[in-house]
Amino acid sequence: MSDALVLGIETSCDETSAAVISGPSRLLGHVVLSQDAHEVFGGVVPELAAREHLRHLPQVVQRALDEAGVELGEIDAIAATAGPGLIGALLVGFTWASSTAFALRRPLIAVHHMEAHLFAPSLEDPEAEPPFIALLVSGGHTLLLHVPEWGQYQLLGETRDDAAGEAFDKVAKLLGLPYPGGRPLSELAESGDARAFAFPRPMLRSQQALGDDDYFDVSFSGLKTAVLNEVREHDTDWADAAHAQRRADLAASFQAAAVDLLVAKTLRAVEAFDCHRVLIGGGVSANQLLRAQLRDALGPEGRLCVSSPRLAMDNGAMVARAGLFRLQHGDLASFDMTASASLPFPGLSRNVSTLSRA
Ligand code: KG4
Ligand code: ZN
Repeated sequence: MSDALVLGIETSCDETSAAVISGPSRLLGHVVLSQDAHEVFGGVVPELAAREHLRHLPQVVQRALDEAGVELGEIDAIAATAGPGLIGALLVGFTWASSTAFALRRPLIAVHHMEAHLFAPSLEDPEAEPPFIALLVSGGHTLLLHVPEWGQYQLLGETRDDAAGEAFDKVAKLLGLPYPGGRPLSELAESGDARAFAFPRPMLRSQQALGDDDYFDVSFSGLKTAVLNEVREHDTDWADAAHAQRRADLAASFQAAAVDLLVAKTLRAVEAFDCHRVLIGGGVSANQLLRAQLRDALGPEGRLCVSSPRLAMDNGAMVARAGLFRLQHGDLASFDMTASASLPFPGLSRNVSTLSRA
């Protein structure tokens, strides 16, 4: 079972992806197709995403199988993202997985998208194993977790408004950058001065203490509004070369404030649990400043576990990896299960009173 061939399918948003793994860390085939049809709309159009998945999924799966050198009939189990995400997009992938597993008489595994992000680093890094503190930062979620072991997720903090990636995307849009904006914004920030604008870090009041309900939570709306005010005040036309430096400074100052906030909250969890291994996952974990600042803050005693950028973004490999874990625990989906836009995170406990030191 530990070398099981698992096919993983990811279609929760705008990436159509399939991968074949053999055991926990052998990635045999992996294809990610990013839908660029949404770019002109400045965000993901749900119906369009579902249609694009429907159009491309069969070829994406076939290419992943070809790359792996295996036939569909040789696959031991099929794992697919069952939620959370866009319901139409999820339905395409999960229904394909479910009907194919049924026809082939193979186990079907329903994977939670954020649990998949949690498993992504372990595909490349043998030390990406619990216990650790996890910061999951994607376009739809921002979760700070204590993970004593796989399958047990203690929720410490989350966002009170926008997800981290959503904040990057919205600020990027204000600065006239293409969607999704996280990467172009961080590239633009390289030529900017991060001290040019003193943006607020509202969730970092020094008098916050363990037990306060905002101790581990983050919020991005104040920061986003502060950028918006700067942009409005100067009614800036970014195409004008005179404003180019100002735009880069805004990008750098926003990124610095957002990263400071994420790093500070993660360090609070590191201290509270005396757990110096930190895992970051989700698209924003590809951010170089976030990685560098966390590595720096953890110091030589600590350990940052993070995947290469291609596995930090949405992909089928992480779904196959989380699926293998569920398969090994006999956690199979029934064939009458369907995808759900708000699938609960399996094993997540929200009860802060259970907070105990690791
Ligand atoms: O995990 P992901 O691929 O999809 C979701 O599950 O949402 O994350 C996508 C998010 C987008 O908001 C994107 O702008 C952001 O990750 N992102 C970044 C970077 N690369 C991608 N944010 C900041 N810096 C980056 N380098
Ligand atoms: Zn994701």
